[in-house]
Amino acid sequence: MNKINVAIDGPASAGKSTIAKKVAEELGFIYLDTGAMYRTLTYAALAKQVSLEDEEALYRLLRETEITFSAGKEKQHVYLNAADVTEIIRSEDVTQNVSLVSSFAKVRKEMVARQKEIAKSGGVVMDGRDIGTVVLPQAEVKIFMTATAEERALRRYKENVAKGINTSLEELTEDMRRRDHLDSTRAISPLKRADDAIELDSTHLTIDEVVQEILAVITQKNKTL
Ligand code: DC
Repeated sequence: MNKINVAIDGPASAGKSTIAKKVAEELGFIYLDTGAMYRTLTYAALAKQVSLEDEEALYRLLRETEITFSAGKEKQHVYLNAADVTEIIRSEDVTQNVSLVSSFAKVRKEMVARQKEIAKSGGVVMDGRDIGTVVLPQAEVKIFMTATAEERALRRYKENVAKGINTSLEELTEDMRRRDHLDSTRAISPLKRADDAIELDSTHLTIDEVVQEILAVITQKNKTL
């Protein structure tokens, strides 16, 4: 398999990270969760009481923040400087504020530069909102994953139940719509399907079915290189 890059974009909770991680594992590629990078900065800003409205302050904070990943077999860990923030960046507080933090041009420019650097030698599966359009417009394979807001909220609801977290399905559905709106209407790099991306609606598919479809697309592409 050639060391191509694979871009996977789509709205919140479309299953991108679970699927991107499995695809990377199958191919022996690096998996990069770009949402985790924006979440880590949001967490750092909340922890240091940096105003989430202050683009310059967020940018300065990012410049002094190292965000790294470790490849665990079970789960990839995310580090803010030396601290393991894997769990805390999934908290409600971070989830509610990350769309705002990720809307600033200076923040995005720095994040995109870091992401491009990681992918420069190829062999990366990267998931996010702007990977196929901005970060890796030359990616050999681009997938745009969707699922209805109801289905995505239901998946989040089941995850919460499994973790013993009590949430309302209605509120989760509303929240999903709110984040979709923020992510797809922001001025800079909004969530948008790249013209050459393959759209994959996962509403009625299992995780494995989606993984197999993506692997088939990659295998096909690889034959033409
Ligand atoms: O995929 P996620 O839910 O962990 O992403 C968290 C937030 O980060 C999401 O609201 C949109 C933003 N994001 C982004 O703007 N660009 C990316 N490449 C990845 C995530």
